Amino acid sequence: MYIKSFLFLIFSVSLYANAWWEGKVVYQVYLRSFQDSNNDGIGDIPGLISRLDYLQSLGVDALWLSPIHKSPDYDFGYDVKGYFSIHPALGTHQDFQQLTLQANKRGIKIMMDLVINHTSDQHPWFLASKSSKSNPKRNWYIWSDGKGNQPPNNWRSRLDESSWVYDESSNQYYQHSFFKEQPDLNLRNPEVQKEIEKIMHFWLERGVSGFRLDLANYYMKDAGLRDNPATNSWSKWFQSSVYAYMGQEHLYDKNHPDLANFYRKLRTIADNHNALLLGEVDVDDGEQAIYAARSVSNQTKGTGLHLSLHRDFISNKFSAEGLENIITEHEALMPRDIPMVVTFNNHDHQRFSTTHTAAETRLAALFTLTSKGFPVLYYGEEIGLKDAYVPQALGKDPLPRIMWKPAYFAQIGRDGCRTPMHWDNTAYAGFSKVEPWITFDKEGAVSVEEQEQDAKSLLNFYKKLISLRKQHVALAKGKQTLYKTGIKNLLIFKREYKDQTIWVAMNFSPANWISLNTQITPENILASTHPQTTNLTELGPMQAVITTKIPSPTL
Ligand code: BGC
Repeated sequence: MYIKSFLFLIFSVSLYANAWWEGKVVYQVYLRSFQDSNNDGIGDIPGLISRLDYLQSLGVDALWLSPIHKSPDYDFGYDVKGYFSIHPALGTHQDFQQLTLQANKRGIKIMMDLVINHTSDQHPWFLASKSSKSNPKRNWYIWSDGKGNQPPNNWRSRLDESSWVYDESSNQYYQHSFFKEQPDLNLRNPEVQKEIEKIMHFWLERGVSGFRLDLANYYMKDAGLRDNPATNSWSKWFQSSVYAYMGQEHLYDKNHPDLANFYRKLRTIADNHNALLLGEVDVDDGEQAIYAARSVSNQTKGTGLHLSLHRDFISNKFSAEGLENIITEHEALMPRDIPMVVTFNNHDHQRFSTTHTAAETRLAALFTLTSKGFPVLYYGEEIGLKDAYVPQALGKDPLPRIMWKPAYFAQIGRDGCRTPMHWDNTAYAGFSKVEPWITFDKEGAVSVEEQEQDAKSLLNFYKKLISLRKQHVALAKGKQTLYKTGIKNLLIFKREYKDQTIWVAMNFSPANWISLNTQITPENILASTHPQTTNLTELGPMQAVITTKIPSPTL
């Protein structure tokens, strides 16, 4: 028994040590908007293949593709209709094979979005499940009788509707955590679990190097379907006046302790293929469960998810103090040497450049690629792409239509951050030769073509930062020490690996200069947000530097 556990430990430690993702950079491709190859206005796999040279020149190590399976596209692929299929608008299995081949040739791995908390309501499994109470697939989803003429319990979907939809023909309700068009799978059912394992094997055998697990902390619900208790947080109670979902402690509809067993199964499969499990952990600020969810993810002795994808950097204020707090909280949560995922952009939130200045965008890039973290970039952030204005009448995402609430409206429209990549300044930005599937900002001032020519561009800054990570192991996987200087707006941290030490100093003040009490010669500067040709003795407003010389700052 002891020998078995010992061998298992050695096996997992050695696997983790060889993990391909350690120190690497992932780039999220929202496929529909990356590159169209067949002029239907929708980005596709062959289009992505044609841009692999660009991605190689950027220096990213892996691509996470938004869902590629057949889907009625109510939620643009996050409503899967066939897990072994490829959406005809996006390509074919042959295209996918080419993609992995061509990407791997360039040293780039391919990761897929695995959406298993729910399927589309058009998925044959759900159609069968819904067809009658006695159908063998009935129990593949979560069905229940109501309480009188009320739903089975008080759970709410993320869209703030009841989590239950009444089905007249069987006089029962089915449960959904997101849109009602996305019924939740019953992942407690061993048959469903088997099917998920099959899906993972299928894609791993086709060259996938990891999965981004959609809504990974929602997989298990309370078997007794108990009501969630009311929140005991004042701030959540206050928010619940416009978003009732916040009025509950989500004890029974997510972050469930039984996740651990299920994660263990997924982890075994992934580890056997040296594949990464990057699980989306969707929790709100101050939610106690954040601790539970993340510890399940990362602290269960090599049996949980490898890394957890969260919104900390997206939801919190971008400032020295804000970042320091996130790092400190992460360090307290993760006693083991697990990097936190650092990401400021994704397909669900306004792009960072939309709501921040160009100087802040550079600081965020520098932080993303130098702090002890696992950077996940979102297509277009490297050129400072901003959200396009998509009028509601032309909107594609159903979310704002369902959840329209003045207080939340600005934050919840997801179309703006999903618009086509700007490759050049031609009519459709080099994305397509026809009108794209989603309206976009034709006047957008940024493009890859332009920025490639300009040595000082944001794109070239990203390239520089990524290549620094590759050249300096301390930046990629070194230990991190945060320095508490007591100086407002200043963030300083040290990265070390064996005898390599690198300092990162960031001044977030828009007005003040901070003295470094030392002279950093240009040779000791690896990179800076501002070009530096003479000795650096102080940091200007919004300036950051990556240096091999120790700064000891004062105001
Ligand atoms: C994805 C969203 C999606 C939702 C439901 C999320 O967390 O990132 O884009 O709509 O899950 O699948």
